Amino acid sequence: MKFFIDTANLDQIKEAADLGILDGVTTNPSLMAKEGITGDKNILAHYKKICEIVEGDVSAEVIATDFSGMISEGKKLASLAENIVVKVPMTRDGVKAISYFTDHGINTNCTLVFSAGQAILAAKAGATYLSPFVGRVDDVTWDGIKLIEEIVSIYSIQGYITEILAASIRSPLHIVQAAKAGADVVTCPLSSILGLFNHPLTDIGLAKFLEDHKKAAK
Ligand code: G3P
Repeated sequence: MKFFIDTANLDQIKEAADLGILDGVTTNPSLMAKEGITGDKNILAHYKKICEIVEGDVSAEVIATDFSGMISEGKKLASLAENIVVKVPMTRDGVKAISYFTDHGINTNCTLVFSAGQAILAAKAGATYLSPFVGRVDDVTWDGIKLIEEIVSIYSIQGYITEILAASIRSPLHIVQAAKAGADVVTCPLSSILGLFNHPLTDIGLAKFLEDHKKAAK
């Protein structure tokens, strides 16, 4: 399973990249706004900076909601760097745009996916990645991980090659569950990635090893 970080914060992207386990980045308009990045020029420049830090795929989301707007924005984004993936919402125009980008060799990430039916449409359009929102499904008391399992099963039966990118990940447990469910990629905040390191027995064990080493050296 690939690890993507879900942020537009350059320091956090660098910190995750430094760990040596980062495969890519996803962003969305909310995450860009959180970093105070506004205006077309600044947004494009910020994506360029992210692509300079990370070799893997970087998802950059279109703001337009109509087909022709998505196409012109997506082309601009895709021309920034080879590893840009154009993120497109799961709408009628979005699916049409994904199909267009697929035909023109531009990688896509279909976002705001909440059902297996939507997952089928995105795969049919040739999306490179599909982003079901695990945490937001949990928020409404459905089961986000069950949705991942369902899509993994359908894609396997149908032989769809779209990669399932578990998004809206909120905890280290979500990461483990997404891996178990068969997600191809997980995108999560830095805190969830770092949370995977934690185990009290590791801390206790390391302290004991170092103590024993010190004693033996006396
Ligand atoms: O990749 C989509 C993700 O950023 C949404 O996460 O936590 O806002 O539901 P969240």
